[in-house]
Amino acid sequence: MAFHIPVMIEQVVTNLITRKTGIYVDCTVGGGGHSQNILETIYPEGILVGLDQDIEALEFARERLKPYQDRVVLVKSNFADLAIVLQNLGFSKVTGVFFDLGISSHQVDTPQRGFSFNKDNFLDMRMDLSKKLHAHYIVNHYSEKQLTEIFSKYGEERFSRSLARLIALERKKNPIETTNQLAELIINFYAKHKKGKWRIHPATKIFQAIRIEVNGELSSLEEALWKAVNILEVRGRIGVISYHSLEDRTVKNIFREWEKKEIINQYGYGLKKLFKKPIYPSEEEIKQNPRARSARLRLAEKIGTKEVSEK
Ligand SMILES: C[S@@+](CC[C@H](N)C(=O)[O-])C[C@H]1O[C@@H](n2cnc3c(N)ncnc32)[C@H](O)[C@@H]1O
Repeated sequence: MAFHIPVMIEQVVTNLITRKTGIYVDCTVGGGGHSQNILETIYPEGILVGLDQDIEALEFARERLKPYQDRVVLVKSNFADLAIVLQNLGFSKVTGVFFDLGISSHQVDTPQRGFSFNKDNFLDMRMDLSKKLHAHYIVNHYSEKQLTEIFSKYGEERFSRSLARLIALERKKNPIETTNQLAELIINFYAKHKKGKWRIHPATKIFQAIRIEVNGELSSLEEALWKAVNILEVRGRIGVISYHSLEDRTVKNIFREWEKKEIINQYGYGLKKLFKKPIYPSEEEIKQNPRARSARLRLAEKIGTKEVSEK
């Protein structure tokens, strides 16, 4: 099975790369699909720095990117630490920064990683296996109030409070150890309260919420996007593929903030969106790779104060 099928490759490469001699950062290397395509375009003049917090992803990508190894640096890191990683490598400015958010197919499809409600295993969900907090702790030790909050904030789950209560009651009898145990609890709850067919699996939102909490996904994204704008050279570009509305909203809001005149004047630089609307994968791509269906790509270019006053 493929490690991960990269989404909207052509749209990313065409819009992100502005010069072949530049330094590009792939903040989410995963299986190295986007990295490889960026390298195919910039090699041997340009440089790619690749980050991932998942050691398994980096090991796979290292093999895949061997043909370009003299122009690639791969670092195990959270992308929230983007600035310090680049500083340690001696890069003060970069030409393009790319994020392909969320989890890879390898992570979802590996039962031991505990991300999927379709595969029974210990409730883990850590992208970074060196971190202590995992889903099992959250499900079994967070208070009912904390669970309600994360289900509602990160899952936008209608029945957050009832599901948090159900989990709190259930774990008093028996700890909730596995992905299947948790998924079945949610399925049974939905079966009692809803009739007919479900559009998505009833555990989707709760699993998403727990995963976001385990990995601190939205706070890392926010931090990384601010840093990415700082570290970009003027006319450098930033591209982000997101897979759900919470991620996309974060990207949209931060881009919008950097487009404000007062922010641009305050910092001396800001962003200009490349396209008004996000780019979506084609129907053909979704047919080939159904996991691409929720993807949206937003792109922006860094501008300096000069460009603003000229307008
Ligand atoms: C959708 S996959 C990327 C797939 C990749 N573009 C490819 O072509 O194979 C997302 C990857 O980002 C990584 N990731 C997610 N959040 C991260 C973070 N905050 N810091 C570093 N890596 C992160 C995950 O571990 C995962 O490998």
